[in-house]
Amino acid sequence: MTMNMKFASFVFMLTVVLLESKLNVHGQSISIQKVLFNFMFPKDPHIVRVRKPEDIKTTMNNVTTLDFFGLVEKYGYSAEEHYVTTKDGYNLIIHRISGSPFFKGQRTGKVVFLQTGLFGTSDCWVLIGAGKDLAFLLADKGYDVWLGNVRGSSYCRSHVKLSPRNKKFWQFSFHEIGMIDLPAMIDYVLGYTKQKNLYYVGISMGNTVLFTFLSIKPEYNAKIKLAVCLAPVAFWNEASPTVQYVTNMLHNIKNFEEILNSNEIYEVFALTSTSIMIGRTLCADNTITQAICVALMFLMSGANPAQLNTTAMPEILSYYPAGSSVQTILHYKQNIITKKFQSYDYGYIGNYKQYKQATPITYDLDKITAPVAIFYGGNDLLVLKSTIFELYKRLPNVVLLEEQKSFTHLDFIIAIDVNTLVYSRVIKLFQEFDNKT
Ligand SMILES: *[C@@H]1O[C@H](CO)[C@@H](O)[C@H](O)[C@H]1NC(C)=O
Ligand SMILES: *[C@@H]1O[C@H](CO)[C@@H](O)[C@H](O)[C@H]1NC(C)=O
Repeated sequence: MTMNMKFASFVFMLTVVLLESKLNVHGQSISIQKVLFNFMFPKDPHIVRVRKPEDIKTTMNNVTTLDFFGLVEKYGYSAEEHYVTTKDGYNLIIHRISGSPFFKGQRTGKVVFLQTGLFGTSDCWVLIGAGKDLAFLLADKGYDVWLGNVRGSSYCRSHVKLSPRNKKFWQFSFHEIGMIDLPAMIDYVLGYTKQKNLYYVGISMGNTVLFTFLSIKPEYNAKIKLAVCLAPVAFWNEASPTVQYVTNMLHNIKNFEEILNSNEIYEVFALTSTSIMIGRTLCADNTITQAICVALMFLMSGANPAQLNTTAMPEILSYYPAGSSVQTILHYKQNIITKKFQSYDYGYIGNYKQYKQATPITYDLDKITAPVAIFYGGNDLLVLKSTIFELYKRLPNVVLLEEQKSFTHLDFIIAIDVNTLVYSRVIKLFQEFDNKT
C-alpha cells in the first residue's frame, strides 16, 4: 500500500495528538510515550536469529528474525560470514555475497564494500529482495560484494575483554568506527581477496565514518577506487526543525548523560525481541497504530508517501534499528551545536587524554583525494541540501553530484523504485570505472 500526501499530513496531526495519549491494545492500556521509550532503550536480551523463513516467530516469549544467511539464501544467493577483530578488541562479523543465481560468467573479482548508516547492519542491504537491493544487483553483475558491520550493532556486540554490559564497551562514536573499524575491515577484505582497491558505498553515517577515516588516514585513499555516498552526513551548517528540536531537548535536559549512566543505559535503539515485537504488531497494515510509525519516520527522515511501501514496515523493523552507543548520538549532537565536523569533545582534560591536544580533531576533507560520487534526496529532512553543498565545496575530488528530487533519507535504502532511480546509476558508474586503472 502506498499513501498520498494528504493522508500523510493527516497522519502528522494525528501523531501529535496520539503521542500524549493512551492506546488500547489487546485490552491493555499503554501510553505511546512508554512504547517509544521501550523501543529506544529496550532492556531485554537480544534476539534469536534463525536461518530458515519457516522458523520466524512472533510469540510472546519467542521472537525470531532471519540471520544474514537466511535473508540471502531465501533468494538463492550464497553468503559467507567473516570475523575481524579490531586493534582495540572489538569482534566484528562481516558478510559477503559469494554467488548469484543470475550470474553465470567469469566473476571479475572486483570488490564492492557496502557500509550502512547509524543503527544499521549488513541486513539492511538485503531486506527488500533480489532484483531490488543494491547488494543483490551488484552480485548479479559479477561483483564481489562485502558488507560491513560496526561495533555496537547487533552483529558486533562482542569484545575480547569487555562485556556489552560494561560501560567501557560503549565508549565510542563514529570517530572510532571510522578510525579503527573501517581500516580493519578494508584491510581484511583486500587481504582476503588479494585486490589492491575496492569500491565503497556508504549510506548516511556510512559516509561520516568514511570521511573520518580518509581524513585521518589519507594513505587509504589509494585503496578506494570510487566512493559512492548516498545521503552523506558530515556538516550540520543547517538542521531541520525536528533535528534542531531533538538536539535542543538533549542539550537542555540537565545531566542527560548522568541520568542515562545511573540507569546503566549506554546503548540506544538495540534490536531486541521487544523492538521487533513493537514493529511487527504496531506498524503492520490494517492497524490504526501504523499511522504513528509512518509519521515518526516522516518526521525524522522526510515524507515521500509515493515511495513508501507500508506493508514492508514490520519486516524492515525486524532488522532495523540494530543499536549503537549513546555517545554516537551525543557526538552528532555536539557537531550540530558547534556546526563543526570534528571528533567527540571530551572537554579540555579529556581531549588531552584522547587526542593529545586541548580541542577535538577537525576532520580535514582536503585529504580525501579518492573520487567521490554523491547522491542526495531533495526531500531529506536529516541531510538538508545546504549541508550537501557544503560537503561538495570541501571535497576535492567529487566526480558526480546527483539529486533525487522526491527522495527522503531512508529512501536510499527502502524506496519502492530505488533500484531503477539510484542503484542502476551506481552500477553504471562502477562499470565506467572498471575500465580505468
Ligand atoms: C523459538 O523458536 C525457534 C525457531 O522455531 C526454536 O528453534 C526455539 O527453540 C524457540 N525457543 C523457545 C524458547 O521456545
Ligand atoms: C511491498 O512489500 C510487500 C511485503 O514485503 C511486498 O510483498 C510487495 O511486493 C511490496 N510492494 C511494492 C510495490 O514494492
